[in-house]
Amino acid sequence: MPSLLQCFFLLALVSLVLAVPQPKLGKRSFKVERVANPHFRRALDHKRAPGAGTRALVKAYRKYGMELPRGMVDADGNIPAAVKVAADELVGHPAVEEAKAKAKAKGKANKTKTASSTSTAGATVAAAASTAAASSGSGTVTATPESQDVEYLAPISIGGQSIVMDFDSGSSDLWVFSTQLSATAQKGHTNFDTTKSTTFKTMTGAAFSISYGDGSGAAGTVGTDTVNIGGATVTNQAIEVATAVSSSFVSDTNSNGLVGLAFSKLNTVSPTQQKTFFDNAMSTLSQPVFTADLRKGAVGSYEFGNIDSTKFNGSLSWAAVNTTTGFWQFSNSKFSVGTGATTATDGTQAIADTGTTLMLASSAIVSAYYSQVSGAANDASAGGITFPCTATLPDLNVDVGGNYMALVRGDDINYAPVDSTGTTCFGGLQATTNDPQIWGDIMFKSQFVAFNGGNNSIGMAPHQS
Ligand SMILES: *[C@@H]1O[C@H](CO)[C@@H](O)[C@H](O)[C@H]1NC(C)=O
Ligand SMILES: *[C@@H]1O[C@H](CO)[C@@H](O)[C@H](O)[C@H]1NC(C)=O
Ligand SMILES: *[C@@H]1O[C@H](CO)[C@@H](O)[C@H](O)[C@H]1NC(C)=O
Ligand SMILES: *[C@@H]1O[C@H](CO)[C@@H](O)[C@H](O)[C@H]1NC(C)=O
Repeated sequence: MPSLLQCFFLLALVSLVLAVPQPKLGKRSFKVERVANPHFRRALDHKRAPGAGTRALVKAYRKYGMELPRGMVDADGNIPAAVKVAADELVGHPAVEEAKAKAKAKGKANKTKTASSTSTAGATVAAAASTAAASSGSGTVTATPESQDVEYLAPISIGGQSIVMDFDSGSSDLWVFSTQLSATAQKGHTNFDTTKSTTFKTMTGAAFSISYGDGSGAAGTVGTDTVNIGGATVTNQAIEVATAVSSSFVSDTNSNGLVGLAFSKLNTVSPTQQKTFFDNAMSTLSQPVFTADLRKGAVGSYEFGNIDSTKFNGSLSWAAVNTTTGFWQFSNSKFSVGTGATTATDGTQAIADTGTTLMLASSAIVSAYYSQVSGAANDASAGGITFPCTATLPDLNVDVGGNYMALVRGDDINYAPVDSTGTTCFGGLQATTNDPQIWGDIMFKSQFVAFNGGNNSIGMAPHQS
């Protein structure tokens, strides 16, 4: 059986191949009617580079294999350049592709088995001899937003080599750019060199291949090494050494790989599935938690083993996590806009995903929200909902697990201008075309989030304003 992520990927491919998606966004009731826009292609050509908002939305849709709404297909039913951004090819050579295919076949044949034999490697963990909080297991690193908060990056050490990575609570592989990639792929990146690490050990016969569903991906070999994230250390952590990466990763020279922080059941290493850094570190951390403190246009932090109460206002509210899918998923049963009345949703779920830029919510939430924003429109040329940059956006309150309404600030929902004129802005809140909803960095900018692997729960509190 293919893995969940592979399923997502296949769905993404299917939706691409079928090409003419239903006008899902258009069914929504908020005031602005979508009209077929004959100028779509021209608008894109004119702008040359699609806006960061459009790219982020396409990436999120495709990461989760969702149908692209009609706004992302041009008048002729073709997918324009903006949307193709994520449809990239692995940059590798034939031998790599062959190894990858083999690994995939193996993984499939042994799926049931590998799922239950997670991390027989048995990583051993040690509290790091770090500076201040030396004695017990915890670690902190800065989380720095890339331009327009597209992603949040943090430094880690692998076998003593310091490498900046994207922390992703929506996937479960720790893979890294390496000196085994082609020179073209390595250019501008920090590349992990296994030969220069005295602690690196090859995991014979192991391989990984991850497809993020958005069309991006990476593949390669596997070994173990010591990973230190801001003082929290795991020895024998599975390191997935990329020998092929997709072009969107190649062109993003700020990031050199991903640190997957969802549940280990989504890990793609075969024949033996491996544990995430957090799973390995958990037993020696002071508390079995990691936290995300992501800020709008400013440096925040990721912390392991400790909940820093100076980073949020009041106390955390905890919600039970539904681990069925391997994501940090919880129920969402109601919402309100600004100071308006609370509306029940029809029992949907949402996941907290640091690796997705925008907040993708159910159409009921998105319609109700933008009906309160004058000038909001389903903007075909931008491929999503936009509004005048001068608009005052209300706050959005969304239920998390039944006992807490998380406030997402209107200011955070103003994602970014669609172009250099700064007149029209792209909404940080966009519609999902499926369940669960995917609440990405827009939500994290308003809420401090603690991921508790001890009792599988998620804690939230508003950031200090
Ligand atoms: C499945 O795993 C077993 C060992 O657990 C191995 O002998 C076998 O070759 C694997 N199957 C495939 C198709 O790789
Ligand atoms: C999980 O543990 C935290 C303490 O770390 C506790 O406050 C919270 O109530 C627990 N949550 C659930 C859903 O059990
Ligand atoms: C947990 O998630 C799965 C998959 O999204 C869903 O089918 C199931 O209903 C959820 N369970 C609960 C108790 O909400
Ligand atoms: C903390 O929350 C209270 C109550 O919501 C609010 O009045 C106060 O301004 C907040 N403090 C900070 C520093 O954000």
